[in-house]
Amino acid sequence: MTDLASAGDLVSLASLSPKAIAHIIDVARSIKRDSADYADLLRGKRLSMVFEKESLRTRFTFDIGMQDLGGSAVFLDLSSAARMGTRESVRDMARNLERWTHGIVARTYRHRTILELADTADVPVINGLSDHLHPCQALADTMTLVERWGDVKGRKLVYVGDGNNTCHSLMTAATKLGMNMVVCTPGGYEPDAEVTAVCEAAADETGGSITLSSNLMESVHLADAVYTDVWASMGQEEETEERAAVFSDYSITEDVMDATKDGSSFMHCLPAHRGHEVSRGVIDGPRSIVFDIAENRLHAQKAVLALLLGPADAFDGGLV
Ligand code: CP
Ligand code: NVA
Repeated sequence: MTDLASAGDLVSLASLSPKAIAHIIDVARSIKRDSADYADLLRGKRLSMVFEKESLRTRFTFDIGMQDLGGSAVFLDLSSAARMGTRESVRDMARNLERWTHGIVARTYRHRTILELADTADVPVINGLSDHLHPCQALADTMTLVERWGDVKGRKLVYVGDGNNTCHSLMTAATKLGMNMVVCTPGGYEPDAEVTAVCEAAADETGGSITLSSNLMESVHLADAVYTDVWASMGQEEETEERAAVFSDYSITEDVMDATKDGSSFMHCLPAHRGHEVSRGVIDGPRSIVFDIAENRLHAQKAVLALLLGPADAFDGGLV
């Protein structure tokens, strides 16, 4: 259920091979370069978008992505409603949506809700963020690094902050692409142990590495890129104050970026809180590539849509 190739879903990057992730990025770059060539690829296809949480980037880029590829999207906003499974079961919802549309993007609190949708629906299910993972974000993040660096193997990428959904998908994509990934969190906020184990196995295969640390300055030393995300994710609003105290020493400031390599990049999935996880000078400064990443959400997701909903022979190369 979690493999783009075998099950036709994109729930997680964990079961995708390094080759499959590189292929999605290649397709995304082709679509970005020659977008007019793909204007009819999904003609007549419809996408359901069911979101339990707010969104700017994911919502716009999936909707625009479908339009760019000749299809259309229908949005169901559940952000002010009860979670999925309350009015009717998640499985019944999936059985309805698959009758009207050719794919489902879901943004949920519980990761289990996405797994249940994917398990039930006969059409592709795409994870548009759950409490556990944010795979579409990581595809855009790594695509942006490939654009900048060409070969990303051996590059040092440091994620600083909460070991959350964004972190889990980023570390998975990065190690599968052979990068040296460092995840720096305060004690007690480390990434999930199972995700870390997947990254260790991926790093063994690709020649990359995964290191966990709580020492900020040691972690960012000579980094090629530093990534951070909000300290309190959607659904953790009540912990905002407590987390601000725990994470206050992990803010990405100019001093932190000074310890990185010349020409290094600052990354963030957005939305950002200036003066908290990142200083204004860094996110609005010359090293920041946050809006390049936001732009690439569109291209990376068009690749995912094209590969999952488009004709099987549209692109050379497999996804295994
Ligand atoms: N980065 C991201 O997923 O943004 P949205 O929450 O606005 O979709
Ligand atoms: N970790 C953040 C990412 C938002 C795109 C959250 O889940 O709120």
